Amino acid sequence: MSKPVRIAVTGAAGQIGYALLFRLASGEVFGPDQPVHLNLIELPHAMDALGGVVMELDDCAFPTLEGVTTADSDHLEDGFRDADYVMCVGSVPRKQGMERADLLKVNGGIFGPTGRAIDAAAAENVKVIVVGNPCNTNCLIAMSHAPRVPRENWFAMTRLDQNRAKSQLAQKAGVGVGDVNSLAIWGNHSPTMYPDFDHARIKGTPVPQAISDHDWLKGEFLTTVQQRGAAIIKARGASSAASAANAALDTLKDITRPTPEGEVFSAAICSTGQYGIEEGIMCSMPLRTDGTTWQVVEGWEHDEFAQAKIQASVDELKSERDTVRDLLG
Ligand code: NAI
Repeated sequence: MSKPVRIAVTGAAGQIGYALLFRLASGEVFGPDQPVHLNLIELPHAMDALGGVVMELDDCAFPTLEGVTTADSDHLEDGFRDADYVMCVGSVPRKQGMERADLLKVNGGIFGPTGRAIDAAAAENVKVIVVGNPCNTNCLIAMSHAPRVPRENWFAMTRLDQNRAKSQLAQKAGVGVGDVNSLAIWGNHSPTMYPDFDHARIKGTPVPQAISDHDWLKGEFLTTVQQRGAAIIKARGASSAASAANAALDTLKDITRPTPEGEVFSAAICSTGQYGIEEGIMCSMPLRTDGTTWQVVEGWEHDEFAQAKIQASVDELKSERDTVRDLLG
């Protein structure tokens, strides 16, 4: 057996953690011949609950799970030690009456130390996926405190939005979700994000040709995808967890496997000015990879409608960055 892949997960005893860890341990991402080691990180008061999760991991007897290490958030470097991948799930959820700016600052207090500990302790080529919201700006804060880790190795998760959008298009067109591809999310993981239906395809046909109801595409489709998180909270009384964990696994697969022909994947990456998007913000864009090095897909043109939507989301990201400027390293 080869050397274990070490994956650190923060917020491991939370609801996304509970839907994520067992699939990570099962070999789903790295295959049946690749052992994985989980480094699980929680707040001190949640360590007992985390102990219960570890017992359940033991009780699954996954042949691919080489071992589990736990650490509390007062010992972050122990938690991130030698990690090849870090999934930052833990964060403080927005409470009633809390302004987005307050939320950004509270989480900034988490993601600065997270970035510094990753910088100090993780493996040389560590790759980081930030799930905890507001994920784009949390990722920006952590990255700014980790100068050793290349900027290309930081991702904030918008894959759940991509999956939601694909599913809506498939249902509208009456096709299987596997028939929809090249669907990218632009911007922030927030209600401003833009699912780019113009460049998506259904069985190879551009979506605006495959779905003639353009009012639906520009109206109900967008709002359904943008408001999906809120709709799930309303229906379930809790935020999306299984689908978020699934998207986190999809992101890990996206960045470690060659992108299939004709497909793209979405994640927020650190802009270097692609598509005129301001350098240095974590913005979701269409990506492709050979499994090692990713690239932004170039040459997509946007009409006025799409351009305005993307710009609004980029403007929101800029304003989030300005709000946390004093928390950046
Ligand atoms: P949860 O509240 O069930 O679990 C979060 C866990 O993180 C808790 O167990 C908590 O103790 C832990 N935690 C908090 N601060 C921590 C720290 N500094 N270090 C280590 N652990 C810490 O929340 P859930 O449902 O698992 O969601 C986690 C995050 O993911 C939330 O911020 C949520 O908004 C976000 N999310 C992001 C999505 C995306 O598409 N990017 C989709 C759905 C959720």
